[in-house]
Amino acid sequence: MPATLAPHTLDRLLEAARTAQRSAHAPYSRFPVGAAVLDESERVHAGCNVENAAYPMGTCAETNAIGAMVAAGGKRVTAVVVVGDGKAPVTPCGGCRQRIAEFASPGTPVIVADRDRVRAQYTLAELLPHGFGPENLQA
Ligand code: THU
Repeated sequence: MPATLAPHTLDRLLEAARTAQRSAHAPYSRFPVGAAVLDESERVHAGCNVENAAYPMGTCAETNAIGAMVAAGGKRVTAVVVVGDGKAPVTPCGGCRQRIAEFASPGTPVIVADRDRVRAQYTLAELLPHGFGPENLQA
């Protein structure tokens, strides 16, 4: 997967992530986030953050998008889009970087956007250098 996505593919991911952001359950942080992942068959899977009154139980948008991909039979994450508001671009948290790494490659693009525009683009390796992954468990 090239680091640059076809414009149509980026648009599909942005649309899915922005739609998911509108469904976020974020009554405690009031910080809705949407995410979308592209799988190896060019299918798009979306998720939003789902918070809980027991605060640590909340889950991130990226985590839920990956769960949707796995449930739909997707095996590989070939691109990620995260949509959030605020001054700073909403990059995935550390735990989500690790979850993305489980299914992605060092060059997988992670694109950060808001409701209006793309704010930044990284590779997974830029966000999670020297990570521990499935290959570490191989004999
Ligand atoms: N959050 C995400 O869903 N993804 C991110 O990349 C950053 C943070 C959520 C977690 C929590 O529900 C809210 O945003 C505030 O941290």
